[in-house]
Formats: sequence, structure tokens, C-alpha cells
Amino acid sequence: MSQPIVVESVAALRAQVRDWRRDGLSIAMVPTMGALHEGHISLVRVALEKADRCVVSIFVNPAQFAPAEDLDKYPRQLARDLDLLAEAKANLAFTPTVGDMYPAGFATRISVGGPSSGLESDFRPTFFDGVATVVAKLLLQATPDRAIFGEKDYQQLCVVRQLCRDLDLPVDIIGAPTVRDRHGLAMSSRNAYLSETELKIARQFNVILRETAVALADGADQAVATAAASRALATAGFDKIDYVEARESLTLAPWRRDRDGRLLAAAWLGKTRLIDNMEISST
Ligand code: PAF
Repeated sequence: MSQPIVVESVAALRAQVRDWRRDGLSIAMVPTMGALHEGHISLVRVALEKADRCVVSIFVNPAQFAPAEDLDKYPRQLARDLDLLAEAKANLAFTPTVGDMYPAGFATRISVGGPSSGLESDFRPTFFDGVATVVAKLLLQATPDRAIFGEKDYQQLCVVRQLCRDLDLPVDIIGAPTVRDRHGLAMSSRNAYLSETELKIARQFNVILRETAVALADGADQAVATAAASRALATAGFDKIDYVEARESLTLAPWRRDRDGRLLAAAWLGKTRLIDNMEISST
């Protein structure tokens, strides 16, 4: 099992990408913040199906954390991540430092409109600026042909698509399905924060969202169904529900029944904030 090439600097990343391109190889990128789990590994698999070489970035991006959020306690486990990437046959891990990504004097922020409005932004107002800025940098640094993002962070996926479209970044953005445990809980690095009791409650999240998505597809009133979902989450033991909303899947505009829909939600268990989403399928 060979370890991926590990590079810290943009110059070394570009040199390797240049070599691959010289050999006629295509490249897919999986941007991550590390603490890898089966969800990330599924993105690596998609990357290797779609391209000859897979670059995984591991960078806990301070720009997307608000001061009171979990930047300091966000799990960091590079050695384990590299083992998982070796098993998954990723070719290169890009592990820049904060100083590499945001050197002294760094003064740019990218702000995406459209799909970033509402939902997460109502509760994390600076989050998508931080994500858009780092994703634009990563894509310009690695210049992949494709980049893979999980549908688990559905609003983020829509924001990244908008970013690449608006800035003419020459990269195909591919959304990959959410990986769930056998109880349907969406894989997330933040699941590591959950106690056993919280984990049991967390597993109700997907069940309640799925039932609500089915009810919406069957014609339930949107306001009534989403309010019922919030109540069901509270009854299941969630401490605070940030939102449960139905949106149009492509633009994230408010959902209209004649459009493809997505039900999105965020809720707290103790100090851990979970997000999840479900397709509202008309079939
Ligand atoms: O989804 C994540 O892990 C992060 O938001 C991303 C896309 C790697 C940007 O830091």
C-alpha cells in the first residue's frame, strides 16, 4: 500500500500537476478539512472513477469558522488521514499551512450570492465567504479538471457550483451522494463530538427528514410539514433546531412543487451542530 505523495507548498503541488499533465493524465480534486471518514473516501473513489489522478487537500480553513466556533477543537489527525488515503489509492495529499494559504497581508474575500443566501448563512453569516475564498484558492492552485464535493453539505455544493460558473473557473464540479451509517446518520467529522446518548438522537435526524420529504412529495403543505419536522426533532431530543426548509434543488430558491426539491435542516445536540438534507422526490 503506497502512501500518497504529500506536498505542503503550492509550488510542489503545481510541479506534480505539471508532470501529470505532461503525461496526458487528467486530475480530480477532493477538498477536505481532514479527519477523514468513509464519506470523504467515497469522494476519492468518485475522483478516481472520473480522472487518472486524485489530489486531496487537507486544510482546516480558519476563514470559514466564526470566532465562537470549533476551529481549535476541530479534529486533526494527519497520520491517520494519510493511511486512509493510501488505502483509497489517492495520489497526492496537499497539506498547506495557514501561513501558506493566508500569508501576512492577505486581503481578499470572495462572496457568492444566490444559493448562499439563507439556511446556513442565517446562522453562520461569514461561513460561505470563507468556503468560497479557500475553494477558489485550492482550485487555482491545483487546477484540476474536476472537483468532487459531497451532497451532505448541499448548500456548499450549490455555492461552489455558482462560484465556478461566475468566475469561469475551468473545472467540472461533481456532487457525490451522502454516505450514511447503517442507521442512516450522515457521516461527518463532527459526529466524533457526539456522546452515545447524543448519537442515538442524531440517528433520528435522517428518519424525520426522510418522512418529511416523502410527505412533501405526497402533497403536504410546506409550512405545516416543516414545522412538524422541527417539532419531531425537538421531541427526539435535539436541543435547538436552526432550520428545516424546502428549497429548489438547483438554485436553492424557495421550493415550488413543479421543481426538483431538497429538504435541508440544521439542528444542535449539546454543543454539536448537525446538518443533513434529503431529495424531495416526486416518484
Ligand atoms: O466541506 C469541507 O470540508 C470544507 O468546507 C471545504 C470544502 C474543504 C473548504 O474548506
